[in-house]
Amino acid sequence: MTYLLIGSGRVATHVKHYLSLKGIPLLEWNRKNHSIEDLREKTAQADTVLLAIKDGAIREFRDAHFKDFKGTVVHFSGSLSVEGIESFHPLMTFGPSLYDLDFYERIYFAAASKKRFKEIFPALSNPVFELMDKNKALYHALCVMSGNFPQILWQACLQKFEELNVPQEAVGLYLEKNLENFLAAPGKSLTGPLARGDTATIEKNIDALPARMAKLYQAFVKYFLDRNAKTLGEPTSHCFF
Ligand SMILES: NC(=O)c1ccc[n+]([C@@H]2O[C@H](COP(=O)([O-])OP(=O)(O)OC[C@H]3O[C@@H](n4cnc5c(N)ncnc54)[C@H](OP(=O)(O)O)[C@@H]3O)[C@@H](O)[C@H]2O)c1
Repeated sequence: MTYLLIGSGRVATHVKHYLSLKGIPLLEWNRKNHSIEDLREKTAQADTVLLAIKDGAIREFRDAHFKDFKGTVVHFSGSLSVEGIESFHPLMTFGPSLYDLDFYERIYFAAASKKRFKEIFPALSNPVFELMDKNKALYHALCVMSGNFPQILWQACLQKFEELNVPQEAVGLYLEKNLENFLAAPGKSLTGPLARGDTATIEKNIDALPARMAKLYQAFVKYFLDRNAKTLGEPTSHCFF
């Protein structure tokens, strides 16, 4: 299997590092450092093209350069479906820091077919789960909400904690234990005024926050009350707004 990796962004950098840790050779091309002539030469040597480029460019790039390619073209987007391109979405966040081999090998991939993942990456033993095309939009929205949204919330809170001279380590320990407890018992781990139904404290919290964060807090309270009303059949109270 000769892979040609396209791109030099976050995912391309991680894929390159992972495959090199596995001892899997790779041809590389990115538009910053290589010519179109170079792309043609490398394409002629490749069986599998890995398009690690931004979602909006994937279809156009395939149409421009791989229309007549006889091998397999792959992308890594969790939300995009393009006919003729196979999709393997690593359910992971890839930032500037590289990971070690043990961690890369534990990353799950979403794929239309587990068998196809094995055929295209025979040397990789990553766990794979099957995801139908029609479910990709919801799946990706869930990835964004569960992985990215908490970070947006943490950024806002950390900044305010810093203003109060609360050490980042103290916040880190608190967040770590919240995640650990949540993963151990997702339905039972919530604590705090929402879990207790402590209306007075919720109102004090909202009053203490800057306007935009207060709106976010209110949105969570509304979601929480509506969800519980639906699950438990209890009337929804919107007394906080
Ligand atoms: N980052 C993650 O955590 C993550 C996780 C799972 C899946 N993914 C998926 O992985 C893919 C790549 O994401 P990323 O986070 O690596 O993005 P990124 O860091 O923003 O890198 C995007 C790459 O695409 C290249 N590119 C953009 N437009 C192009 C074009 N028209 N022709 C050729 N190259 C072009 C960029 O080249 P220049 O530098 O020259 O602009 C850059 O190398 C996406 O499909 C994304 O959905 C990302």
